Amino acid sequence: MTHKIAVLPGDGIGPEITEQAQRVLGALGLDLEMTVAPVGGAAYDLHGHPLPPETLSLAQRSDAVLFGAVGDWKYDSLERHLRPEQAILGLRRAMGLFANLRPAILYPQLANASTLKPEVVSGLDILIVRELTGDIYFGQPRGVRTVEEGNFAGERQGFDTMHYAESEVRRIAHVGFQAAQKRQKRLCSVDKSNVLETSQFWRDIMIDVAREYPDVELSHMYVDNAAMQLVRAPKEFDVIVTGNLFGDILSDEAAMLTGSIGMLPSASLNASQQGLYEPSHGSAPDIAGQNKANPLATILSAAMLLRYSLNAEDQAKRIEAAVASVLEQGLRTGDIYEDGCQLLSTSAMGDAVLKALR
Ligand code: IPM
Ligand code: MN
Repeated sequence: MTHKIAVLPGDGIGPEITEQAQRVLGALGLDLEMTVAPVGGAAYDLHGHPLPPETLSLAQRSDAVLFGAVGDWKYDSLERHLRPEQAILGLRRAMGLFANLRPAILYPQLANASTLKPEVVSGLDILIVRELTGDIYFGQPRGVRTVEEGNFAGERQGFDTMHYAESEVRRIAHVGFQAAQKRQKRLCSVDKSNVLETSQFWRDIMIDVAREYPDVELSHMYVDNAAMQLVRAPKEFDVIVTGNLFGDILSDEAAMLTGSIGMLPSASLNASQQGLYEPSHGSAPDIAGQNKANPLATILSAAMLLRYSLNAEDQAKRIEAAVASVLEQGLRTGDIYEDGCQLLSTSAMGDAVLKALR
């Protein structure tokens, strides 16, 4: 059976890094049909929209999407609905990609890359499960309005709406518990239930769903405390499950604990195993086109694609082992370079992974 993969390289370093991931996918001997389409600023330049209908329908018809990155300062002055970020938000929404898995793993070979003390982060392996299609990101109403009464009456006011439907919380809770079952069986739900109604509701549902997973230990933490504990003692976490906004913030923090955001993949899944796979880092327009970006996060995202959407666990492991071997050989792109290692370009890193695959 042919597996259809939509490849959406996007902006900045997106094209360079997805090219390397495509090469790796192409070398596995699988029956893959990879189709490339524009997205983000690149699509705006070509078609006047960051997520053209052809790109969206290609993604929807595919088994999986391999996504590079979107965004560039030059689009900052566009109206919001035309900005590159709308492409990723639109794909998440249209494809129902509600479950975002963001692992933060510190590779032993890169222990010095973290800004935290080695004893705090060595062996770090946490998974953030972020709800991705609800919360204040998509809540209606939103906009700017005139305040009717109270202290600020007559003034304009910007507003957004935070809400979560019960089914939205339940389905992400199940993803969190099931992920924890495959790991150390500890799930920490992060919320702000001391202040927010939405969060109290979230917490109540988490506690209810926990009854179906007696083997998983559920804990709760306020988001401000979680931000603090992540830098104090990150290894105390196994799986974190949280809403869209908190997950956005905490996953950047968790990624930085490892010191090498250039290494971290992510998966965004819907209920039918369709997924979008992208590196955790952004489009880095400052180094675009220079063949020096780290392609490993995208290559590892391709491994997640094989694991979650194509059910090809062995092939996923093959890629992950090849990446580990490349690091073991002291091969590095600039972002993870240390003295005594060999500095490689983006494409040379792709070559090295291909060689290690054989
Ligand atoms: C991310 C990004 C996006 C988000 C932006 C680009 C819309 O920061 O994937 O974490 O906020 O979700
Ligand atoms: Mn983010």
